Amino acid sequence: MSERCLVTGVAGFIASHLAEKLLQENYEVVGVDYFSDHYAREVKEGNLQELRGQPRFHFAEINLCSAELQPYLDGVSCVFHQAGQPGVRTSWGEDFHIYLKDNVLATQRLLEACKGSAVRRFVYASSSSIYGDALDLPVKESSPARPISPYGVTKLAAEHLCYLYRTNFGVPTVALRYFTVYGPRQRPDMAFYRFITTIHQEQPITIYGDGEQTRDFTFVADAVEANMLVLQAKALQDWHVWNIGGGSRASVNQIITLLERIMERRTVLNYTPPQHGDVRHTWADTSAARRDLGFAPRTSLEEGLQAQVSWQMTKASKR
Ligand SMILES: NC(=O)c1ccc[n+]([C@@H]2O[C@H](COP(=O)([O-])OP(=O)(O)OC[C@H]3O[C@@H](n4cnc5c(N)ncnc54)[C@H](O)[C@@H]3O)[C@@H](O)[C@H]2O)c1
Repeated sequence: MSERCLVTGVAGFIASHLAEKLLQENYEVVGVDYFSDHYAREVKEGNLQELRGQPRFHFAEINLCSAELQPYLDGVSCVFHQAGQPGVRTSWGEDFHIYLKDNVLATQRLLEACKGSAVRRFVYASSSSIYGDALDLPVKESSPARPISPYGVTKLAAEHLCYLYRTNFGVPTVALRYFTVYGPRQRPDMAFYRFITTIHQEQPITIYGDGEQTRDFTFVADAVEANMLVLQAKALQDWHVWNIGGGSRASVNQIITLLERIMERRTVLNYTPPQHGDVRHTWADTSAARRDLGFAPRTSLEEGLQAQVSWQMTKASKR
């Protein structure tokens, strides 16, 4: 019988790819999501298209903050907790309560439900945002965690919850700190998605800051692979947290130039002041993930961007 995995936030960008990969590898997948309104339900339904109807996929529309969670853990040996409220810039002000609920409370309730269960691995989707403006680059897992956005604070709080449920109750948690994930089905609020749409529509692009800020970009299949490696890793007796970066560090200006080349179009750039909570640079030291898991990102920035452009163009042509 195939192993059963629970994937939270399965209608989202990363989790929908992960669920597809698990099914390809013959796992059974219980996927849960409540279709938060961070972006349109229609887009999330599209993310589920390949999954719905597959015999080893079971979907439930539930909110982790309120549903009785035990039934969804029945027979589950691995939990991939990808659900969360993403987005740095929208985490200020009134909407912070959504981040508290979907990132902190949802994680705490899921961990409570896992106490004493048969779960042998619990993988939490953390974020490079927990580092804030790191002083030493590339950043190691041992670097100070000093988030500079409310989003980062909630992702770090949930990481701490994972750690303390392991040490107090033996819930077998580990965390993957993703660095800016991109590729087909990227969230519509993310930079690459917006840049590609705007270049295609021949509109000017708004850049926050001078465009010289850099990110370590991770192709979605590489982020998924990191989860698969954790699933298949032999013994993980202790708490581990690993940086998951794609090794494709580039500035926003470099990305625009690359996109202009791929899309064979020129664009006009409007530079506006930097946004609160945006860090200047991210750059992952992934040597721990390489050493412990054999993690090695495979997709170059150019290949990954090509894949995202083709996906977005196909989508646009169907409208
Ligand atoms: N995309 C990135 O670059 C990136 C980088 C670092 C970390 N992460 C983390 O990875 C995870 C996935 O990110 P994504 O970009 O795929 O986001 P996404 O918004 O596409 O997916 C998250 C999904 O979780 C669901 N969800 C949220 N709260 C829930 C709740 N209480 N109950 C049930 N479902 C809930 C949402 O409806 C959504 O479909 C998030 O936890 C995010 O913080 C993402």
